[in-house]
Amino acid sequence: MKKYELAVIPGDGIGKEVVPAAVKVLQTAATLHGGIQLETTEFPWGCDYYLKHGKMMSDDGLEQLKNFDALFLGAVGDPNKVPDHISLWGLLIHIRREFEQTINIRPAKLFKGLTSPLVNPGPFNFLVIRENSEGEYSESGGRIHKGEDEIAIQNAIFTRKATERVMDYAFKQAVLRKGHVTSATKSNGIVHSMPFWDEVFNDVSKCYTGVRTSSVHIDALAAFFVTKPSDFDVIVASNLFGDILTDIGGAIMGSIGIAPAGNININGKYPSMFEPVHGSAPDIYGKGIANPIGQIWTASLMLDHLGEAALAREVLRAMEEVTEAGIKTKDIGGNATTDEVTNKICLQLQNNIG
Ligand code: NAD
Ligand code: IPM
Ligand code: MN
Repeated sequence: MKKYELAVIPGDGIGKEVVPAAVKVLQTAATLHGGIQLETTEFPWGCDYYLKHGKMMSDDGLEQLKNFDALFLGAVGDPNKVPDHISLWGLLIHIRREFEQTINIRPAKLFKGLTSPLVNPGPFNFLVIRENSEGEYSESGGRIHKGEDEIAIQNAIFTRKATERVMDYAFKQAVLRKGHVTSATKSNGIVHSMPFWDEVFNDVSKCYTGVRTSSVHIDALAAFFVTKPSDFDVIVASNLFGDILTDIGGAIMGSIGIAPAGNININGKYPSMFEPVHGSAPDIYGKGIANPIGQIWTASLMLDHLGEAALAREVLRAMEEVTEAGIKTKDIGGNATTDEVTNKICLQLQNNIG
């Protein structure tokens, strides 16, 4: 029996609803599989924890997390209670940075049973590889002066190391997929970092002669995600560009509540962390209507990362079959609750592999 130790951090808002749902699906899948055991340890970190303790996670939090096989996170942020810059830097970004989760993988595809808001989406299936450690999200900047002379500065930092790393990862993924990488750029030189980004893209592409490349300005690319998403295979993007593109990815699938993600540590020193693209959705928290699919698909990505590809595929298949059967939450046009969708997915897994 293979055992995986998972740290579970529901976090804030609907994270507290969709994480237990996804854990239930994971445990059902593991039991049905019979050969793996998932041992979960839950950590109560988030904004409520902050209100009690004055910090988003315990002081030795990273120490507590570092030996897990993977981290499973819901969402962070409850802006009515704790300002986002405190909650996010104190938990989500803290873990991403300290555990060197330098690559963010974010797939999107036309999902069976879902109606894309696009009239003619085509059978799109793409993977955004987002740089996850620097770029526009650098820690360099601040606010100076006061009053009408006030200035806010944010320095975008692009190191050759991180840029090469994310591009190399994207090309490797393309080799396993349809062999096409699109670089999200702004190479007209207006943004100083982007000609550099293009240069590195060009250099790295020389190591992957079998992979077709395209370079598209981010503004046009955002539009193409809407007008012809089927043109894309792997898209490599900077931290902010990738962030924005992947909410569009969620939207064209039918809802941001579906989109999954993984923060990958590629040097093997620390665990990777799996969390959906969406946030804590304070507007629907507590109503029991949050779509659990983003979190469950994220669980499937985590299984795949752990080396359980077949089981990961079963989770994805059960999810699509339940959606196709019309058991859907409100955001994707149904009236089922979080629990109803979750229970149906567990049942479907039982039917498929039980
Ligand atoms: P959001 O993703 O939480 O919500 C945007 C919209 O999508 C809302 O209308 C929400 O109801 C809907 N939505 C999101 N997930 C859904 C789901 N699973 N089912 C149904 N509907 C869903 O983005 P926001 O409102 O900009 O941010 C809210 C908070 O979450 C903020 O504090 C923000 O900083 C934080 N946030 C955290 C993460 C993360 O932890 N990874 C990601 C994004 C936003
Ligand atoms: C995401 C989120 C985060 C990001 C925020 C909450 C810091 O939007 O994971 O997509 O921008 O990385
Ligand atoms: Mn985002």
